[in-house]
Amino acid sequence: MEKKFYGYSRQHIDDEDIKAVVEVLKSDFLTTGPKVAEFEEAIKQYLSVKHAICVSSGTAALHIAASIMLNKGDKVLTTPNSFLATSNAILYAQAIPIFVDVDNQANIDLDICEDMLKKDNSIKAIFAVDFAGNMVNPKRLMYLKEKFGVKVLEDCAHSLGAVFEQYKAGDCAFCDVATLSFHPVKTITSAEGGCIVTNDDYVAKKAIVLRNHGIVRNSEDFIYNDDNPLYFEMQDLGFNYRLSDVHSALGISQLKKIDYFLSERRKLAKNYDSAFYNTPIRPLHLNSNSSYHLYVVRVNFKELGKNKSDVMKLLKTKGIMLQTHYIPINAQPFYRNLGYDPNSTPKAIEYYKECLSIPLYVGLSLDEQEFIINAIKSAILN
Ligand SMILES: Cc1ncc(COP(=O)(O)O)c(C=O)c1O
Repeated sequence: MEKKFYGYSRQHIDDEDIKAVVEVLKSDFLTTGPKVAEFEEAIKQYLSVKHAICVSSGTAALHIAASIMLNKGDKVLTTPNSFLATSNAILYAQAIPIFVDVDNQANIDLDICEDMLKKDNSIKAIFAVDFAGNMVNPKRLMYLKEKFGVKVLEDCAHSLGAVFEQYKAGDCAFCDVATLSFHPVKTITSAEGGCIVTNDDYVAKKAIVLRNHGIVRNSEDFIYNDDNPLYFEMQDLGFNYRLSDVHSALGISQLKKIDYFLSERRKLAKNYDSAFYNTPIRPLHLNSNSSYHLYVVRVNFKELGKNKSDVMKLLKTKGIMLQTHYIPINAQPFYRNLGYDPNSTPKAIEYYKECLSIPLYVGLSLDEQEFIINAIKSAILN
């Protein structure tokens, strides 16, 4: 029998998804057709947000959002505990990321943000990331936004489906713009894909132009007159960040199942919570409102006389591929070369030494989960 491998996350594709994609492949439009608008409409409905602009990846969404929101030289508070794409987008816009240390949830520490904002009124924005699917406190973000006049961007790559009291990740009730990712490990997938969501008409209009080479097609917005019926104007330096109809069809089909996906993830997370209760394997957050993109545990390996990489290697021999989210971004050589120092965020370093992302995805059976729990306990506690 072929050995099974358990990664930290993976997609869940059913026959309906396949049918939806095949229908588009047989249709007239593989791209710039009706499915993109249909997917955008479905996202708008789901998040109760005014605008949704689909793009080719979560990174493209961040790039466009940063290009619109930031100016050259702007100082932007962000987290070292994210995928590189978040702070890279700030750099693409020629702005300056400032890495703020993490709190106990491994999210950006808003107390530190507040202190920094009090001391430096040249800070222009906060790029928050809902790490692992656990929302950065929306009320506090809204307070900082209002008190200090900063722009707020929410990177919801992990948190589609997460809620915090009356707020939903990506509903833009407390931020200027939010970005989504539909990479296969995320809550829903379109294979590759992303989305910019906002209630701001200007941001939406600009995002639509930037995702398609900076091209404007609406004659009311033309700068020059030209009677060529196919006339268009390039008014900005944009990109080809369009999402195809093939990807959109998959996204539409997946979004229909999001409630099921979330309930399965939360059920599995609860099982892990109980299995590790009162052990040195400490779940990062016991928060049922998380979308549980990741299930992260923290282990003080030093205290247990264990070595993290030995534990990871041992579990790999059993087919269990643990991950570490994330190596602090400011520890990356590229960022060090720009002058960043990971020691400026000591809690992120400490967290990195202790964190493990363990398998959590729709389709993981209870038997498989039990096998994973026993193997992890045995590797860490024995
Ligand atoms: C927090 C975060 N932001 C942005 C991205 C980029 O998304 P994509 O892979 O769709 O470009 C990722 C991807 O893993 C992510 O984890």
